[in-house]
Amino acid sequence: MNFELTEVQKDIQKMTREFAARELIPNAKKWDENHEWPTDALKKLAELSLLGIAVPEQWGGAGLDNVSYALAMEEISRGCASTGVLMSVNNSLYCDPVAKFGTDAQKEKWLKPYAAGEKLGCFGLTEPQAGSDAAAQQTVAVKKGDRYIINGSKNWITAGPKADAIVLFTMTNKEAGNRGITAFLVPTDTKGFKRMAPDKKMGISAAWSCTMYFEDMEVPAENLLGKEGEGFKVAMSTLDGGRIGIASQALGIARAALEEAIRYSGERKSFGKYIREHQAIQFMIADMATELDAARLLVHRAALLKDKGVRHSQESAMAKLYASEMSGRVTNKALQIFGGMGYSKEMDAERHVRDARITEIYEGTSEIQRIVIAANLLKD
Ligand code: CAA
Repeated sequence: MNFELTEVQKDIQKMTREFAARELIPNAKKWDENHEWPTDALKKLAELSLLGIAVPEQWGGAGLDNVSYALAMEEISRGCASTGVLMSVNNSLYCDPVAKFGTDAQKEKWLKPYAAGEKLGCFGLTEPQAGSDAAAQQTVAVKKGDRYIINGSKNWITAGPKADAIVLFTMTNKEAGNRGITAFLVPTDTKGFKRMAPDKKMGISAAWSCTMYFEDMEVPAENLLGKEGEGFKVAMSTLDGGRIGIASQALGIARAALEEAIRYSGERKSFGKYIREHQAIQFMIADMATELDAARLLVHRAALLKDKGVRHSQESAMAKLYASEMSGRVTNKALQIFGGMGYSKEMDAERHVRDARITEIYEGTSEIQRIVIAANLLKD
């Protein structure tokens, strides 16, 4: 067992920490308030090869491991949770399934420019009636010669308003249930592809998401990702990786809250001393740091297993469940340490609480993670 990061992993951590301090922390509050898409930050992430971290260099990525990805996601999300999730969607939910299930011809067209950050991808699984119950897909794809005609809708698609392509899940055989689901690669400028205005949300306001509609949208059969009827497995195994990204985002948000609370506890005085000299505050800080570390260990274990190429559904679910709920507790305690000022829009504490909340919902709610964990433990 080895808790030491490699030299490359330490370099990635340092580089992304410095980038976050320079480019993200000074802007995150403004982007959140203005619901401003972080155009420049994404451009710079691309220049640093952070939009296809674990994609082989041959296909435009940085060719690093998933622990490096988790480290980078934590640092970027420590700077700006919105930028963090956009990075996670392109890496985990778009590039990863194309790298894993795409043919070489598809990778040339649908992976290289996306892993290099020249284009942006998104992931279309969620529908109004298929959130947690992801197998209940209503978007239908009907084969017609060498094309499929797609009709339906998706909602809450993170990066949807700006993405150049989507990994789109459809039902090709309703009778077959989850074995009737098929994934396609679809450019967002396809005729019949309509995107609505960005959603209004409680947090991660700079990471735009939207509803989209497909009306008699024609997609060539060559855009099928994986095999017909195997889309559900594409989606589920993709989410096993995505949950590592979101768990790392939760770590980053919690760390921002903890670091700021520690700093403030040395500035604010009550009862004649700095609040960090009160045991009540010390105990909160000790609990926050311990939980954060425990979550990080779970996240890095899941990333290590992904690097080993073994199934890591349970470990990813545990990491996402614990890290997201930890982030909720830690950001709330940080706000408590700030007292009245924590409730003020002047401080970042309230933003961290709002940003942390979504990590318990997207890429599978906490309840779905518990279902995945229990199903693995009780399967025999
Ligand atoms: N890898 C490979 N195959 C898997 C798998 C995995 N991780 N999980 C399940 N499967 C396979 C099963 O082996 C099974 O295969 P067979 O039919 O051959 O036996 C098949 O898939 C069906 O499995 P289940 O019976 O477990 O499926 P289910 O219908 O009961 O659903 C679920 C399971 C865990 C509840 C699933 O629906 C789920 O994860 N729901 C949550 C969806 C989700 O996370 N959505 C997030 C949307 S993306 C997003 O949020 C992005 C964003 O905004 C940032």
